[in-house]
Amino acid sequence: MPRLAFGADYNPEQWDAATWRDDVRLMREAGVNLVSLGVFAWSWIEPRPDAFDFSGLDEIVALLHGSGVEVDLATPTAAPPLWFSHAHPESLPVTADGLRRAPGSRQAYCPSSAAYRERAALVTRRLAERYGEHPAVVMWHINNEYANGNPHCWCDDSAAAFRTWLRTTYGEDLDALNERWGTRVWSVRYSDWEQVIPPRTSTSRLSPGLWLDFYRFSDAEHLACFRAERDIVRTLSPGRPVTTNFMAGALRWSDYWRWADEVDIVSNDHYLASEDPERAADLAFTADLTRGLAGGKPWLLMEHSTSAVQWQPRNIAKTPGEMARNTLTHIARGADGALFFQWRQSAYGPEKWHSAMVPHGGEDTRIWQETKALGNTVAGLADVAGSTCPPAEIALLLDYEAMWALELTDRPSADLTYRDALRDWHKALWNVGLPCDLVRAPVPGERRLLLAPSLYAVPADTVRALEDYVARGGHLVVGPFSGVVDSDDRLHPGPYPGALRGLLGVRVDEYLPLAAGETVTLDDGSTGRIWSERVVPDPGTEVEAGFADGPAAGGPAVVRRGNVRYLATRPDSDTLQRLLSTWAAQAGCTPPLDGAGHGVEATRRTSPDGRSWLFAVNHTRHAAHLAAVGVTPAGEVAVVRENRAPATEPHTPRTQPES
Ligand code: GAL
Ligand code: ZN
Repeated sequence: MPRLAFGADYNPEQWDAATWRDDVRLMREAGVNLVSLGVFAWSWIEPRPDAFDFSGLDEIVALLHGSGVEVDLATPTAAPPLWFSHAHPESLPVTADGLRRAPGSRQAYCPSSAAYRERAALVTRRLAERYGEHPAVVMWHINNEYANGNPHCWCDDSAAAFRTWLRTTYGEDLDALNERWGTRVWSVRYSDWEQVIPPRTSTSRLSPGLWLDFYRFSDAEHLACFRAERDIVRTLSPGRPVTTNFMAGALRWSDYWRWADEVDIVSNDHYLASEDPERAADLAFTADLTRGLAGGKPWLLMEHSTSAVQWQPRNIAKTPGEMARNTLTHIARGADGALFFQWRQSAYGPEKWHSAMVPHGGEDTRIWQETKALGNTVAGLADVAGSTCPPAEIALLLDYEAMWALELTDRPSADLTYRDALRDWHKALWNVGLPCDLVRAPVPGERRLLLAPSLYAVPADTVRALEDYVARGGHLVVGPFSGVVDSDDRLHPGPYPGALRGLLGVRVDEYLPLAAGETVTLDDGSTGRIWSERVVPDPGTEVEAGFADGPAAGGPAVVRRGNVRYLATRPDSDTLQRLLSTWAAQAGCTPPLDGAGHGVEATRRTSPDGRSWLFAVNHTRHAAHLAAVGVTPAGEVAVVRENRAPATEPHTPRTQPES
């Protein structure tokens, strides 16, 4: 039966058996059909080394199964037990300053620790042997948010593993490493592999090449941990998809394009900055990014919150209706269901002020009432399962290594961050109602307009991919300070913008960052922030707007060469919205749906048999009028079934009235 997943992280180890019975009763009431079980339950199932006790888990799995709730069974390896950490203090992560983290919280392990990997494999094997063929278990959840809390480790074991990784990566050629890391500077040339250590805190700055390889290595170590557990589970529990929950919106230490290739289904966790008045834009960004990582296929929202979290300075509750809007925004953008952290609000511990599906107050609460109503709504959308969002005509390029490189220290401006650029450009499109996909190079599918808001570090194959895309007739926009260095943060030869000089048709004489808060005016009246450049156009490159003031006054700010544009500043949001709308129209993109934008979303999911659903999500405080939908009241969501399946298709009964 097609269905959208609806449920939560379920932590029964925090509750007694009477509460478990109440839990499954309430799960049924709320339409919960999937729970992630045992995410942090290692010391529950293995209280002492090798003394496995599955009695509690057996009972819970049976209870859930009897109630029709499916299980996404977690390996508990994000939270090694204290008996392990105390027996293996060398497994605890070490900071760049050489401080060994104490045991006592979750994620207290080094991903390179042999002892950790061995025990993680053992508990995974025991779980998969016991539950791999259990009919309740429909998927596997490996670890939890890899690299959250322990993204990098500077310990001696990590140092040794880093050297091994480097020796393989550089084919035992230490001279090549010296060359790529630029070790002629400050006399830091390596004459022996043993001298290579992770970027530990030193007297002054370290080689950017060292940092970038360390980031790659650390990500590879976490991925190796994932793969090891995944492979055990695949053998013992065949046919069940294996996932690990990403934190895609954080844009930090995991190159999720690589991770996405390794999971059977992409899943993601998303939490809102509760005080941000524009937080709805972040939902759309993260959902679009997760869909991009999933290659357009359906994905799963593994965690979000019913209301407040507990880890922000001020944890503002979601307003009535906001939870449903959040959930349905993810579904509208391709999620085949949504789970929460967590099922029942903890009675103790650090997360007791984090909202849940069942609040402290139980059934007689707003959150529970809304949760039940949402469960009903999600059940009514069962037929959406398996459908996908058609590829957008506009694509935003995301390159994790370009982000890591730009956000190292010792750049012309600390304000020129990758993450802000990507989010700002996405938000501008969201505000004007233009759909977009996040992509990696080479650009998948046929796109009319490709946006690279920030591409400081660019390898040769990405340059070729961009050239190919343009040669096929695509329109391209590149943001400032792009094309400058290679993957090791070494300057591309020749004048700026290095590797993109030919494609962009400009020479940059000088990069001219702005002072904090300073803005520049463009001669078309628009505004730039953070950055300017002294740009010299090649013959044949057209100047579309110039700097009217600021350090680059009189020079070009926006140039165009054929279908390729270069922007030499970071525009403010109004400017960005205007520019991107104009350029989308010029690239032949379908105009936004009438009434979409500025908090009113219209997204479509379609299925190969011709059915389609138009989701209208109104995040605003006023009624929205959308072509093809009609009126969506303030704060509400409408789903329009635009086409029925052909008559020959079997129909599933619908529990939800049509909009
Ligand atoms: C996530 C984590 C969950 C829970 C949640 C609280 O990062 O995976 O276990 O702690 O945050 O918002
Ligand atoms: Zn380590």
